[in-house]
Amino acid sequence: MEKITERRGWYLNDAAFDWLYPERIQQLSRQHWTPLSIARRAAQFLVSGNGTRILDIGSGVGKFCLTAAHYFPEASFCGIEQRRELYHFAMAAREATGAQNVDFIHGNFTQIDLEEYDHFYFYNAFFENLASEGHIDKQIAYSTSLYTYYSRYLSRALDNKPSGTRLVTFHSLEDEVPPSYQLVDASVDFMLKMWIKR
Ligand SMILES: C[S@@+](CC[C@H](N)C(=O)[O-])C[C@H]1O[C@@H](n2cnc3c(N)ncnc32)[C@H](O)[C@@H]1O
Repeated sequence: MEKITERRGWYLNDAAFDWLYPERIQQLSRQHWTPLSIARRAAQFLVSGNGTRILDIGSGVGKFCLTAAHYFPEASFCGIEQRRELYHFAMAAREATGAQNVDFIHGNFTQIDLEEYDHFYFYNAFFENLASEGHIDKQIAYSTSLYTYYSRYLSRALDNKPSGTRLVTFHSLEDEVPPSYQLVDASVDFMLKMWIKR
């Protein structure tokens, strides 16, 4: 009984959820991890039926995937994250919450087959290559050319997906959104956008 109460408690609010992580990771939350309310709205749009497979491109410590998986047990969520440390925090949080329908992969999104997923979530993952401050850490090299490379790579991959593919972007410059995707909804001061491939 205590365990069930504890599990539900993680999703009460952002501060409660962020207790899944060490203090340094909690402090990054406001700028780098998706708030619970946004994750829930985004997932509601992305989940189009039972067994839908959704990928978070640049999943950080797993906040989007875990929240989405909690509210939509009929779908499966996967996150790909380039930073090993963040991947480990995501796996630890999965264990702590007992989530069944979520998985995480450590690696660069360019190394996995995007064909295995139906719909996509993207929280401005490549912007760190353009930013002059506020980086998650100093472990990786940033460059404008990497930003361009990743954005074009993702845009091409999304363009190759079938009609009806759904995409949610949060705080995006939209360089990764191909013209074949139609904007169908926007909220949170136009920072949260829902797209469907024509
Ligand atoms: C703004 S955070 C969002 C985290 C998570 N999606 C969320 O909403 O809580 C973006 C993450 O993308 C990761 N990232 C950036 N470029 C990546 C790439 N090429 N492949 C995999 N992960 C990447 C960063 O390491 C960072 O953890």
